[in-house]
Amino acid sequence: MLTLANISVSYDGSRILRGVNLSVPAGQVVCLMGRNGVGKTTTLKSIVGLVKADTGSVKLDDTELAGLKPDARARHGLGYVPQGRDIFPHLTVWENLRIGAIAQGKKLNGEVDRVMALFPILKEFLQRKGGVLSGGQQQQLAIGRALLTNPKVLLLDEPTEGIQPNIIDQIGEMIKKLRAEGLHGSAHDYVAEIGNAVKLLRAEGQIGILLVEQYLDFCLEVGDRFYIMDRGAVVAEGPIAQLNDDIVRRHLTV
Ligand SMILES: Nc1ncnc2c1ncn2[C@@H]1O[C@H](COP(=O)(O)OP(=O)(O)OP(=O)(O)O)[C@@H](O)[C@H]1O
Ligand SMILES: [Mg+2]
Repeated sequence: MLTLANISVSYDGSRILRGVNLSVPAGQVVCLMGRNGVGKTTTLKSIVGLVKADTGSVKLDDTELAGLKPDARARHGLGYVPQGRDIFPHLTVWENLRIGAIAQGKKLNGEVDRVMALFPILKEFLQRKGGVLSGGQQQQLAIGRALLTNPKVLLLDEPTEGIQPNIIDQIGEMIKKLRAEGLHGSAHDYVAEIGNAVKLLRAEGQIGILLVEQYLDFCLEVGDRFYIMDRGAVVAEGPIAQLNDDIVRRHLTV
């Protein structure tokens, strides 16, 4: 279980996060949603230690992580997949995968099989350079790499970003455009594959997932609980079934 209590963060003296509270139970997928610029990524960075919080606590089970460096936090069981593509383009898929484990001094055993089962495409492409994979495949590789460190909690920052736009109203437009570009099939498969992997991980019941996501349908499909942020604070939360039109209109549509 990951628990944030009263996390505040400032950049250059201006408050970005204002006392964020949230928790991610083991075995659950928790969606962190909100419009652009409200502080979702900053929240993840404050968990992994890439930004320093002014106040507050980040606990993983009974361990206080606040004050620890990012690598120490990772060793306690945080797996982080940042926003955007973050793989090494000149290394092969296999080398990219190994790096996550090597960085933590871990030997790879059953974890590789688990990742290959989650993302079969990676198995086919083990010897290819990371940079030649599609955007969606690179995201799968980044998630696979994070999983190889065997985290207790996996933090995913917009894994569908760049593959599918985030606005429900524009989905129709987007599908037309993707179809025109001949990309519809692969984009769709990709979202299905990430969704599938998240569901399988949830079924294993051991890992908690904090999923930053603006693609509402994806959250509805894979999430257990939601938090919505606005201007640096959590403004709504609950079981995913309570994510109704009113909340979406007020806090998510632009
Ligand atoms: N390194 C930084 N220095 C100064 N301001 C920053 C920095 N990083 C982010 N910000 C600002 O902090 C606010 C929150 O940014 P953050 O990246 O957390 O938003 P987000 O919710 O992840 O947005 P998006 O949906 O666009 O990814 C924004 O106003 C952003 O401009
Ligand atoms: Mg972000």
